[in-house]
Amino acid sequence: MTFATLWSELEPIGRCAQTGGYRRYSWTAADSECRAWFVKQAQARGLEVAVDKNGNLWAWWGKRGPGAVVTGSHLDSVPDGGAFDGPLGIVSALAAVDLLREQGAEPVRPVAVTAFVEEEGARFGVACLGTRLLTGMIEPERARRLADDQKATYAEAMTQAGLDPDGIGADDELIGDIGAFVELHVEQGRALAPLGHAVAIAESIWPHGRWRLDFTGVADHAGTARFADRRDPMLPYASTVLAARRAAAERGALATFGKVIAEPGGANGVPSAVHAWLDARAPEEAVLRDTVATVCSAAERAAAEQGVSFSVRQESATPVVRFDRDLRGRISAVLGSVLDGPVPVLPTGAGHDAGVLAARVPAAMLFVRNPTGISHSPAERADLADCEAGVRALAAVLRELACQ
Ligand code: GLV
Ligand code: MN
Ligand code: MN
Repeated sequence: MTFATLWSELEPIGRCAQTGGYRRYSWTAADSECRAWFVKQAQARGLEVAVDKNGNLWAWWGKRGPGAVVTGSHLDSVPDGGAFDGPLGIVSALAAVDLLREQGAEPVRPVAVTAFVEEEGARFGVACLGTRLLTGMIEPERARRLADDQKATYAEAMTQAGLDPDGIGADDELIGDIGAFVELHVEQGRALAPLGHAVAIAESIWPHGRWRLDFTGVADHAGTARFADRRDPMLPYASTVLAARRAAAERGALATFGKVIAEPGGANGVPSAVHAWLDARAPEEAVLRDTVATVCSAAERAAAEQGVSFSVRQESATPVVRFDRDLRGRISAVLGSVLDGPVPVLPTGAGHDAGVLAARVPAAMLFVRNPTGISHSPAERADLADCEAGVRALAAVLRELACQ
């Protein structure tokens, strides 16, 4: 089946008609539909589908076993996300299997296509939850207790989706079977377009994390409470946003507040509390730590000035990732011949399951050019010809790793 045919089947699922963005949150109806599509496609290819104990989907070409060459990505999205972030890696992996079969390739090692759960952490707050659980990087009990904005826990959501949350956690046997993991992903920046290349190889991922900041004040009437009497948590929150921008810019880091909840949320009232999520990333861990410490001190000072209490909790952390040098070298050599010439090697500030898996297995990533450079937005794009180049590149990599 061609990439375009496969893509067109998945494309409408979970897309919001008003915004054109995707709302494929883990363990919701849209997510189940995407997962069912994956299972159907895998079965149509005679791949054996397995759901691991963390709910990640595996489609095996050949019997599961040691030295497996694994490729895949995620189906979940951020709120109003683009079509490509995640699904491109899965559709390309299935199309690459088709292409290899057309070419008569016969793997001598098992090959698997995966769909990892809750990569974005859009619903439960911890990014790459499926691979963090798989690799033992998060305590199962902590994961079970994570809650969404409606206070549904991860355990409840998994149960509702028909899976058993009691079994989640590290799976050393499954990790032990992975010989190499390669994730193809849409580029999430603007590096490739000016270089004139359709595909790049990832070099590293910036260290990054998420912090939840809670400012708690006192609710009051917007028309009668004098400024002098207010304990308004919106004020220290607002100055923290500006302090974060300043601190990050001064250090060559990035800091973003993309989610904020004011409680109780009345337009004519001083809020009782403001909950805000800081996403911070930097080229080096020391710079990241310094940026976040500076933001938190600014928040503490601003809260104290307004008689507001302040607390901060880290929700997820990913250390710097440097992808396996040998694997990168092999991929680079293969792609040089498939794509006519040397392929660019790029660092990224975006997090990925490949980055989590890199701590346990040789891992690599391919990026497919995004002409808008925009991601986590409906404006995210990849041209069909570039997607097809990505499939050819991934197929060549799988052939190199699994067929000889
Ligand atoms: C995932 O896309 C992330 O970088 O947060
Ligand atoms: Mn993403
Ligand atoms: Mn992604």
